[in-house]
Amino acid sequence: MTRSNAPAYQTGFANHFATEAVEGALPVGRNSPQRPALGLYAEQLSGAAFTAPRDHNLRSWLYRLRPSAQHGPYQPFDQGRVRSGPFTETPPNPNRMRWDPLTMPDQPTDWVEGLTTYGGNGDADSGTGVGIHLYVANRSMTDRVFYSADGELLIVPQQGSHRFVTEMGVIEAAPGHIVVIPRGVRFRVEVDGPAGSQIRGYVCENYGSPFRLPDLGPIGSNGLANPRDFETPVAWFEDVDRPTQCVQKYGGLLWATTFGHSPLDVVGWHGNYAPYRYDTARFNTIGTVSYDHPDPSIFTVLTSPSDTPGTANCDFVIFPPRWMVAEDTFRPPWFHRNVMSEFMGLIFGEYDAKAGGFAPGGASLHNRMSGHGPDQASWNGATKAELKPHKIENTLAFMFETRMPIRTTAWAEQTPLMQLDYDDCWTGFEKGNVG
Ligand SMILES: [Fe+2]
Repeated sequence: MTRSNAPAYQTGFANHFATEAVEGALPVGRNSPQRPALGLYAEQLSGAAFTAPRDHNLRSWLYRLRPSAQHGPYQPFDQGRVRSGPFTETPPNPNRMRWDPLTMPDQPTDWVEGLTTYGGNGDADSGTGVGIHLYVANRSMTDRVFYSADGELLIVPQQGSHRFVTEMGVIEAAPGHIVVIPRGVRFRVEVDGPAGSQIRGYVCENYGSPFRLPDLGPIGSNGLANPRDFETPVAWFEDVDRPTQCVQKYGGLLWATTFGHSPLDVVGWHGNYAPYRYDTARFNTIGTVSYDHPDPSIFTVLTSPSDTPGTANCDFVIFPPRWMVAEDTFRPPWFHRNVMSEFMGLIFGEYDAKAGGFAPGGASLHNRMSGHGPDQASWNGATKAELKPHKIENTLAFMFETRMPIRTTAWAEQTPLMQLDYDDCWTGFEKGNVG
């Protein structure tokens, strides 16, 4: 396997980047010269319709050793636990659900083999909804790359050091980072570290409009995730004349073909359609300095808008370390019922609305209009706490919040990881006293 040096990054969200791994690889002043330099092949990768408005248009020009078109037919590939929208394996289920952490593999397993779909909504073909997956792996993808034609991949590492070797450069990521790989961009995932290292994490496969930064409204021109903190890799390529399997997710199914070479062979590229990472430790967390817990939309990192203004196909929301100073306030998240549906994961630490049972690498699902909120132990503590300034530290939870109910897969409903006693965390609350 070819290894790059420590990766370098360009900063900014959806900038028009230009980067070349070999001097002179990028043409100057045009995209498709008659004879590209160095005998490279020019290829446009479009992530938006050609005619999308300028502020929504996403495309990059890639200059590569061989054309992407140079391969034989794709054949069906082992589907494993990967499922896709429309999700029809199980009937709609209004119940609250919670899962223990996804089990680490005991057999050699790479990122593709360890991908497990918990559920999702919408329809990949029509470009609505999301697929929600977790993954575990204990070996690097070797002579294999992957891409999704069905959606962009928002990857949330939970354990271990990850290297995403993509067509457009190398991204390193650890728990606390997120990585977004656009629809169609090929990559492999390497497990960094000594033999026996393992990785685990979450994936939102976004079938809808690509994630962008949320509007800030009265917050102003700064805050939440700041654009300069997003990092896109510089060009990097490998010149490997060895058969490489390319697995793609297309139409909800996995397919594979074999290239006679590594397709991670882009010597230079320019454009605004590229993978990126973001360190959530840089999130400018905003909260109340007077009273009441604001709506959790205040913690939105990225949003995939739908056709309905303000109603997201999916919001990616984090619950990072932060100061709690509200006076005369129940400080944890309140009880609520929500028209949006909420899938949560935990990267590390403890979530402030649950006193146990929601573990790093685990997950919970609160679907449309289901009553949820703090468990009884958390409620007891928060209602009795002395309300001095308090810092919630060493924790990072997140939520994929989506406008459509989430249907779970048969695997997710039948796995022994499902906590069948989840409802019990809300039993035993005493009746209010009106007498
Ligand atoms: Fe909630």
